[in-house]
Amino acid sequence: MSSSKKTSFPLLTLSLFLLLPFSQPLAPTRPGSSLDPRQQTALESLGFPATSDACAVPSPRDNATSCDGAAPFRHLTSLRLANCSTDLDLPYTVLQSLSTLKSVSFLNCPIPPPRRLPPQLASSLHSFSCISSLRRVPGALLSPLRNLTELYLSGVPVTESAPIMIISQMVDLTSLTVSNANLSGPIPHHWHCLDLTHLDFSFNRLKGIIPGTISMLGSLQTFNLSSNFLTGNIPDSMGDMVSLKNVSLSNNSFFGSIPSSLSDLIDLVQLDLSSNHFNGSIPTFFSGLKKLRVLNLEGNNFQGVIPFNASFISKLQVFKVGGNSNLCYNHSILSSKLRLGVAPCNRYGLPMSPPTGRTRSDTSSDDMDDYGEADSGNGGGGHRGPNKLVLGIAIGLSCLVFLVIFLFCLSKVCGSS
Ligand SMILES: *[C@@H]1O[C@H](CO)[C@@H](O)[C@H](O)[C@H]1NC(C)=O
Ligand SMILES: *[C@@H]1O[C@H](CO)[C@@H](O)[C@H](O)[C@H]1NC(C)=O
Ligand SMILES: *[C@@H]1O[C@H](CO)[C@@H](O)[C@H](O)[C@H]1NC(C)=O
Ligand SMILES: *[C@@H]1O[C@H](CO)[C@@H](O)[C@H](O)[C@H]1NC(C)=O
Ligand SMILES: *[C@@H]1O[C@H](CO)[C@@H](O)[C@H](O)[C@H]1NC(C)=O
Ligand SMILES: *[C@@H]1O[C@H](CO)[C@@H](O)[C@H](O)[C@H]1NC(C)=O
Ligand SMILES: *[C@@H]1O[C@H](CO)[C@@H](O)[C@H](O)[C@H]1NC(C)=O
Ligand SMILES: *[C@@H]1O[C@H](CO)[C@@H](O)[C@H](O)[C@H]1NC(C)=O
Ligand SMILES: *[C@@H]1O[C@H](CO)[C@@H](O)[C@H](O)[C@H]1NC(C)=O
Ligand SMILES: *[C@@H]1O[C@H](CO)[C@@H](O)[C@H](O)[C@H]1NC(C)=O
Repeated sequence: MSSSKKTSFPLLTLSLFLLLPFSQPLAPTRPGSSLDPRQQTALESLGFPATSDACAVPSPRDNATSCDGAAPFRHLTSLRLANCSTDLDLPYTVLQSLSTLKSVSFLNCPIPPPRRLPPQLASSLHSFSCISSLRRVPGALLSPLRNLTELYLSGVPVTESAPIMIISQMVDLTSLTVSNANLSGPIPHHWHCLDLTHLDFSFNRLKGIIPGTISMLGSLQTFNLSSNFLTGNIPDSMGDMVSLKNVSLSNNSFFGSIPSSLSDLIDLVQLDLSSNHFNGSIPTFFSGLKKLRVLNLEGNNFQGVIPFNASFISKLQVFKVGGNSNLCYNHSILSSKLRLGVAPCNRYGLPMSPPTGRTRSDTSSDDMDDYGEADSGNGGGGHRGPNKLVLGIAIGLSCLVFLVIFLFCLSKVCGSS
């Protein structure tokens, strides 16, 4: 919950947004093309100006409702309420007269949620969106929405049973976002909305693993689980989700290595695995994914040599590998100017220790190639393996730290007796 979303908007008026998809001439409304009077009255009770016909008023950029082209009266098909005053009421009777709506969205409307929806409205709705609105989204509001294809909930706490309710009942969903919504519990194992193309559960409190059955969602293009408390491996079966384009598992507690099955995800554009505990080496197959633009692997435990050349890396918009202390780059292949945030490798494919400056003794100096030089491709020869000097310094330092702690404890014990 970002703090800015918490502010109320005492001075902001309710705004009804107007769109005209069935672009009628903007000229004076001819009889028979105006909004159903019952719906006009309903809109007025929501603070909509009485003077204008919601289907006829040319729409200022932001404001939107839309109407169908029915005769003698047109009907509302979509309604967006933004920046409501907090005392706006949504009485049942008003909702009942709005039962032709296919799309409803609330934006910054921190009003109490309606206790229940008229069944006709609930089954009419195909799209429901609630952004920093309605204070909370209870199950009674969600469960009747069975014909939804799009559900977008963000910045509003939802009921704990929401995921199960959503995925088992809204079988026509194609786009599902429940983000920053205090969602808890595990990721469901059984999916009934198999046409999903967009799934975003980011910034919640989801726990447990990604079940292998996630691959049931074969049409999924966007898959975002960032910033939850998830753990476990990336299931091999994710390689079957060949429509995937944008994937983020960032900021969880996933571990293990990247499965080779992901090489089948040839449409992958963005992959964000940052801030987890992934290990193993970075697979070479990424350089074969022609559409890849964003590869973020930073903040993990990846190890070994970065398996890419400069021409692959320069094709990416984002390439992040910093914060992997056992990862290194081959400085005869990649330039230090790329500033990858990892050390160059020694001849064993292990990160060189940071330069120890001029204190390095001559006898150990050929343990390292010129630190950070990109173009010394001739390898120098005469390497003798892991740097003993650095090891010595590390041991010395640990001893010193230990001594200090010991003395400190000793002084505490003496002082307190
Ligand atoms: C559009 O929104 C503005 C700002 O909330 C509001 O003042 C105005 O009345 C709205 N216009 C219509 C036609 O609803
Ligand atoms: C609603 O409030 C937001 C934030 O204060 C503002 O940026 C936006 O223009 C407002 N929209 C309307 C239609 O008044
Ligand atoms: C809701 O979906 C059911 C089942 O697909 C369908 O019979 C019904 O007509 C739909 N209702 C509306 C209002 O679209
Ligand atoms: C978030 O969920 C936890 C339980 O999972 C609950 O204790 C807490 O009150 C919820 N927070 C909000 C703002 O609803
Ligand atoms: C990471 O996730 C935690 C827990 O969900 C959240 O509090 C934190 O803001 C996230 N950090 C980033 C950088 O998104
Ligand atoms: C995932 O969600 C986070 C937070 O909502 C967002 O910043 C990020 O761009 C999303 N990533 C993808 C790949 O959709
Ligand atoms: C994936 O992310 C890119 C930006 O990197 C964006 O242009 C594209 O629309 C996204 N695709 C999907 C399916 O979300
Ligand atoms: C990666 O971590 C797991 C445990 O998290 C461990 O069992 C495995 O041996 C590690 N693999 C490598 C290559 O370090
Ligand atoms: C860089 O790597 C890509 C992918 O492995 C390869 O196709 C390309 O030939 C390489 N380029 C150079 C200059 O080595
Ligand atoms: C670095 O690249 C060079 C040239 O391709 C190769 O001979 C050398 O073995 C590589 N070093 C490591 C540690 O991979």
